[in-house]
Amino acid sequence: MKISKIVLAMALALSSTVTLAAGDAAAGKAKYAMCQGCHGANGISPTPATNPSLAGKDAAFVKEQLIAFKSGKRDNPTMKAMTAGLTDADIENLAAFIATLKP
Ligand code: HEC
Repeated sequence: MKISKIVLAMALALSSTVTLAAGDAAAGKAKYAMCQGCHGANGISPTPATNPSLAGKDAAFVKEQLIAFKSGKRDNPTMKAMTAGLTDADIENLAAFIATLKP
């Protein structure tokens, strides 16, 4: 039982490293220029009542949300418009960059 927990923890640690390495944070930072008006330059929203802060959210979560906004599965007209022109690589890069932002 104990060993299987350790193995699971190691697998999770490895997979999160792989997720982070998937996107290019520098390219994501450049793309993020179009996001910072609402979500803040450092991911701390200037208007948190309307636009959520993104700092502290992990890459896998951000990626999942961006894909869901783009497809309409997560229904938000603003974010649908923001994600409409993003490629899969843009989404990976944005997720990698946002994951570097400290809350
Ligand atoms: C015009 C304002 C605006 C811009 C620009 C904008 N967003 Fe958003 N974003 C929002 C709003 C509003 C929400 C909350 C949507 C909801 O309630 O479902 C949101 C939600 C999100 C979420 C989900 C956060 C969570 O906690 O679930 C992510 C991730 C996100 N935006 C990323 C981005 C990225 C990346 C960009 C740039 C490509 C961007 N946003 C540009 C307004 C904006």
